[in-house]
Amino acid sequence: MSGAERLLAMARQARERAYAPYSDFLVGCAIESKDGQVVLGGNVENACYRLGVCAEQSALSAAQQAFGLENVRRVAVVGGPRHADPQVASDPVTPCGGCRQALAEAAQLAGEDIAIVCSDLSGDEVLETSVGALLPAAFTLD
Ligand code: THU
Repeated sequence: MSGAERLLAMARQARERAYAPYSDFLVGCAIESKDGQVVLGGNVENACYRLGVCAEQSALSAAQQAFGLENVRRVAVVGGPRHADPQVASDPVTPCGGCRQALAEAAQLAGEDIAIVCSDLSGDEVLETSVGALLPAAFTLD
């Protein structure tokens, strides 16, 4: 199993702990540091819908606490509807616009682009990309 596949497996585990009773769309995220530590996050929704937090931003908070955003190396995202058949392939879930901007902050602090690997629930559809590719010309500290 490759490093990307292992990180996706952890994101899939994190998805099990997402709290998404309103959208029923569960997302898990695993973030790996430059020295191989991994933190997890899941989306956490709220009765006041606009207060919901995406999986990537949950995981970025954990990353900052564990090893600092400047040490983020790779991010895995797995998502899909609660009742979807995990055997049926669908499009990989990619970070939303806001999460791309949050990830761009980490990339700037890291001093290099961050790899992003996204998958559907089946694991058959995988997209390997990066923050720079998903959000070119990001607004940054500069
Ligand atoms: N969601 C994420 O957690 N990450 C994304 O990049 C896309 C969307 C969550 C937000 C909301 O709880 C649910 O998926 C449906 O939009």
